[in-house]
Amino acid sequence: MLSTTVQEKLNKHMNAEFFSAHLYLSMAAFFKSIDLPGFAHWMEVQFDEEMTHAKRFFEFIDRMDGRARVTEIAAPLFEWDSPLAAFEYAYTHEQEVSERIHDLVSVAIAEKDHATNNFLQWFVSEQVEEEASVKAIVQKLRFIGEEKMGLLMVDQELGNRPTDTAANDQA
Ligand code: FEO
Repeated sequence: MLSTTVQEKLNKHMNAEFFSAHLYLSMAAFFKSIDLPGFAHWMEVQFDEEMTHAKRFFEFIDRMDGRARVTEIAAPLFEWDSPLAAFEYAYTHEQEVSERIHDLVSVAIAEKDHATNNFLQWFVSEQVEEEASVKAIVQKLRFIGEEKMGLLMVDQELGNRPTDTAANDQA
């Protein structure tokens, strides 16, 4: 059984995960528009992963006899100045997501909701991985700067990201 406060916060976060999915699909379209198919592929895989995150919240709310509520999702940005700018934006976004998860954990603890706290711990770990993987790409892009050959190499590398979201979750 979820308290009204916890249910509202879980629902809010489920919708924030849908926003993340839309943001990464928007970035995939941006990368396709500048002819970087590997970057676009990485973002499409990330879209799938964010949808599974939202679904985890949906299923948890339901299992706890609550009611999931899908709301309007704000439109994400669709243009960035460069691949680096897009990944820096993604990195800041993931840091904000981590903060929101941590706030949710604090609420669950304050409400003595151990089941929700336990559910959220998977996301605490997942955010460590998400931040690290995006940051690694930001660092690579900073290193290569405007150099086209380096960009093509990163494009090839990102194009190899596995499409299996379960594998990505463990990566
Ligand atoms: Fe669902 Fe990128 O955090």
